[in-house]
Amino acid sequence: MDLMQAARDVWGNAYAPYSKFKVGAAIRTTAGNIFVGVNVENVAYPEGTCAEAGAIAAMCAAGETEIAEVAVIADSPEPVPCCGGCRQKLVEFGGPEVVVTMGTIDGKQLALTLAEILPGRFDAGHMEKV
Ligand code: THU
Repeated sequence: MDLMQAARDVWGNAYAPYSKFKVGAAIRTTAGNIFVGVNVENVAYPEGTCAEAGAIAAMCAAGETEIAEVAVIADSPEPVPCCGGCRQKLVEFGGPEVVVTMGTIDGKQLALTLAEILPGRFDAGHMEKV
């Protein structure tokens, strides 16, 4: 299945009454399974969660932890890159070569690797002296 289509299919279920900005995300794992997520906002604004976080949670709940590919979609003029926090969340489960395709509802797409969207990632190696 096309990963962007999976993100598009779930996009409408985003709960975004405050920003009105719906986001859908889909992750394909190395096992070949697809997990989807949407942003879920909250009246206590900082409690809202991103679509990528939802897809990651669904993946982990199913017992998988290896991301092969990511697609994110929103109704924006240009493909909107994942937020900084989601970049760090994604690199927890995906190598630098993993492609993240960002799309718009109008069909524009931008594909970048995790290494490109999060250079200088924080990883366990930085804690080696502890
Ligand atoms: N949002 C995501 O779901 N993913 C991103 O990577 C960027 C931002 C959501 C969070 C919030 O619900 C809305 O977009 C506006 O920031």
